[in-house]
Amino acid sequence: MTSQKRKILLVANWKCNPATLPEAQRLFAAIKKTVPRYNNIDVVICPPAVFLSRFSAVGGKLGVQDVFWENTGAYTGAIGSRMARSVGASYAIIGHSERREHMGETNEMVQAKVKAALAAGLRVVLCVGEKSRDGDAAAYAGFVKEEVSVGLRGVTKQSLGNVIIAYEPIWAVGSDEADTPERTLEMALYIRKTIADLYDRTVAQTFPVLYGGSANAGNARAFLRDGGVDGLLVGRASLQAKEFGKIVQIANEF
Ligand code: PGA
Repeated sequence: MTSQKRKILLVANWKCNPATLPEAQRLFAAIKKTVPRYNNIDVVICPPAVFLSRFSAVGGKLGVQDVFWENTGAYTGAIGSRMARSVGASYAIIGHSERREHMGETNEMVQAKVKAALAAGLRVVLCVGEKSRDGDAAAYAGFVKEEVSVGLRGVTKQSLGNVIIAYEPIWAVGSDEADTPERTLEMALYIRKTIADLYDRTVAQTFPVLYGGSANAGNARAFLRDGGVDGLLVGRASLQAKEFGKIVQIANEF
């Protein structure tokens, strides 16, 4: 541990919430009020894409929760990376477990999306995580390794500078059962080892890994202190301005 302050990234994933624009505007305004600007923290709000342009007018870092692998074309309902970028997104969450589960996204689709997002100039938050910890460690570690390796296929070392990996064990997402910081530390090291094997040790050492899955103000400190991660991907707790504000304050301790 160094005494030097490190840059912490907090990504708020609103998912398919809230239901209307006025509610979303209220939440955004409340978060902006409770989230003062700290130099060592980047806060990225990822609202539903339809609200993005309304928020970019107000300012702050924004992300989109998914992009399609083409920028334009006959793909009804899809959102291209360049579109998201043009309405204010600078980050893209890609490969979230809910999209993998409900929208049938495969590692190959995720890989195509990562490439498209990077080409459009978005920073990518690539989500990975095992379905369960049952069975032997090699099996679930292998699952995560595959998600990382295929997701980053074709990503150059230079572009890797715009990639962040969010380790989100699927059983911990939306569940009230967060991982332990100790096990997150193991997985963060394992992900960096995978990056070292794919690229080199130098990039791996500073490669940003986030933890996500029932992160909240009660466990944020432990994850940031002992989990070997550079920040958090926050779902439910980011829908409550006060709770999220507390997480930001805690992140400022590091
Ligand atoms: P959660 O969601 O914090 O509500 O568990 C996290 C996520 O899905 O990114």
